[in-house]
Amino acid sequence: ARSWEEDLERILWTEDEIAARVSEIAAEISEDIKGCGAEVAVVGVATGAFVFLADLVRRMGLPVAVDLIRVESYGSRTESNGAPAIVSDVRVDVEGKHVILVEDIVDTGNTLSFLISHMKSKGARAVSVCTFLDKPGRRKVQFELVGDGKFYRGFVCPDCFVVGYGMDFSERCRYLPFVAVLKPEKYT
Ligand code: PRP
Ligand code: MN
Ligand code: MG
Repeated sequence: ARSWEEDLERILWTEDEIAARVSEIAAEISEDIKGCGAEVAVVGVATGAFVFLADLVRRMGLPVAVDLIRVESYGSRTESNGAPAIVSDVRVDVEGKHVILVEDIVDTGNTLSFLISHMKSKGARAVSVCTFLDKPGRRKVQFELVGDGKFYRGFVCPDCFVVGYGMDFSERCRYLPFVAVLKPEKYT
């Protein structure tokens, strides 16, 4: 298999830097969640969140349920106002639970605002969001958390195309243990 690392411009966060930050967020969430009295379901958004999800739940040290949800955005292809659709729903019953939605990156906010409403309609008592990266400058939709849900983020990301640690460019580079910037000529 051809290595894709020659398509990368620079590394933004190394494996060690990521591990240190994930430990901090995991500790912060655990502290907030400990006394909340509700069961907790940690729900990763496939595919991008799978690496962060695995690292996060292993460092939280709490008996949480873990599940995945898959959505598809039709926005770019059909111009149908960017509304995502659920392709594969959670199997864990989230009613009455504190749901923590886990993302690799928040960009426009479309995906998360849709998923927060979805969890609310399923009867979640609280919805928090934990994203590894955040691009706040690109937000089009401001999402509202539910109940005593909180917003957690690993790093603020510069406005460039990033890959690795779960994030892809046409399904490539998800396996890389670090986050890197893709060379602009690769996608322009
Ligand atoms: C990416 C990312 C988030 C979403 C963020 O997923 O993983 O889920 O886009 O964008 P938004 O804030 O504008 O909604 P993508 O659709 O690329 O799917 P993937 O996770 O399978 O790569
Ligand atoms: Mn995604
Ligand atoms: Mg993607």
